[in-house]
Amino acid sequence: MEHTNVNAIEAAKQLDIINELKVRFEQEKSKTGKTKTYHIETFGCQMNSRDSEKIAGILKQIGYEETDSEEADFVIFNTCTVRENANNKVWGRLGYLGNLKKKNPDMLIAICGCMMQEPTAVEKIKSSYRFVDIIFGTHNIFKLAELLQLRLNSDRMIIDLWKDTDLIVENLPNERKYSFKAGVNIMFGCNNFCSYCIVPYVRGRERSRNPKDIIDEITALAKDGVLEVMLLGQNVNSYGKTLEEPITFAQLLQEIEKIDGIERIRFMTSHPKDLSQELIDVMKSSKKICNHLHLPMQSGSTRLLKIMNRKYTKEGYLELVDKIRKAVPNISLTTDIIVGFPGETEEDFEETLDVVRKVGFDSAFTFLYSKRTGTPAATMENQVEEAVAMERFNRLLKEIQTCSANRTLRDEHTVQKVLVEEINSQDPNLLTGRLGNNLLVHFPGDPSYIGKIIDVYLEESKGFYYIGRLQE
Ligand code: SAH
Ligand code: SF4
Ligand code: F3S
Repeated sequence: MEHTNVNAIEAAKQLDIINELKVRFEQEKSKTGKTKTYHIETFGCQMNSRDSEKIAGILKQIGYEETDSEEADFVIFNTCTVRENANNKVWGRLGYLGNLKKKNPDMLIAICGCMMQEPTAVEKIKSSYRFVDIIFGTHNIFKLAELLQLRLNSDRMIIDLWKDTDLIVENLPNERKYSFKAGVNIMFGCNNFCSYCIVPYVRGRERSRNPKDIIDEITALAKDGVLEVMLLGQNVNSYGKTLEEPITFAQLLQEIEKIDGIERIRFMTSHPKDLSQELIDVMKSSKKICNHLHLPMQSGSTRLLKIMNRKYTKEGYLELVDKIRKAVPNISLTTDIIVGFPGETEEDFEETLDVVRKVGFDSAFTFLYSKRTGTPAATMENQVEEAVAMERFNRLLKEIQTCSANRTLRDEHTVQKVLVEEINSQDPNLLTGRLGNNLLVHFPGDPSYIGKIIDVYLEESKGFYYIGRLQE
């Protein structure tokens, strides 16, 4: 109860500041005749994208207009630090922003997101990128208007970083990227501490949103025309366990199923260790949960899984896949795999290939292990040589491509329900739509279909997507 009050007071305070800034911006606009623009660059995962929508919502409310170009009045980098190359991208782009700001000194630059939860990254900005105006982290996005106001009223670099939080501030504005589909946070943070992973350190402890807030949000989305929701959390299978009135993820799904207007329900990510029989039963009986499960395995070696702190074995993973396939025979399974984790031997890697072959994933995200300072794996002695890891990575990729191609062939020459998402970026005569199993199909059609669920005949499988035509 107490927290609910704190959250509501915080939301009210932020809305007041948003309104103050709005008045200020309107006055400026009447003098200059110009509307200020913003540009957000999102570097990370779906959580990161969802956070960017919240940032966009606040800025729009204040009176900013979105622009595709980094030559904007306010540029925000929403960073990721899950692997080293995510960080490198940010440093590269930041150098470029510095040059833009030399040309336009009034430009504002904010950096936020997971990388800012790491003190060394913040130190580097303070010493080498002094032109940055605002730094904030993953726990205080809701404060953006306040931080912007502080910056506008002073000449200092504004830095506001929280180590962790138990606040969940609801009901602030947010701007959806698509009108017909939406990401919905159901929980924040992570408590699993897989030994390679930085996320628990930069996203804080696991906390679940109240089911009522989630249901209310999705009901409002449905009224607003949203057909598909993606429920977001680092480990959705442990949703609700820490709430005052505990509820399981499967129970939450059943509540969401009842919401009129919602046609498709997706979720990610599902940690194998917490995937319950109850969830499998709900997936089996549901009419709305998509025919797809993303089930990160990371490695096929029980020995490595233990060192990774994943809390399941190779056999456990395979049994789980069996149970799911029995309940939902045509389900698409996708996964995440890390290659080159410290101490990975050829035998360990062969175990991974073995699982890939046995499961026959529809697709997989494969990652070269990246050392993250502060995680237990970073100080493990037997780091794998890059060339060895690379060679394994390429072998794995080949295996996955074969699996994907086989799996997509299954649905060739069938008619499938497709949510039409956009005009194809390569060929404006084609539309791009998403199947329930998350694969894409490109087909000729009129843009008026965008945002609708329609029948498409899958003419040809291209390995990991389809070419199709409208089924009249
Ligand atoms: N919570 C999700 C994963 C989020 S991070 C889960 O547990 O499934 C997304 C993926 O990034 C992970 O599944 C993992 O495969 C990869 N990843 C995380 N840390 C990594 C690291 N240090 N090096 C390489 N890949 C990593
Ligand atoms: Fe990282 Fe593991 Fe948490 Fe996923 S479950 S975010 S891999 S620590
Ligand atoms: Fe996501 Fe990257 Fe953060 S993967 S949770 S944005 S570290």
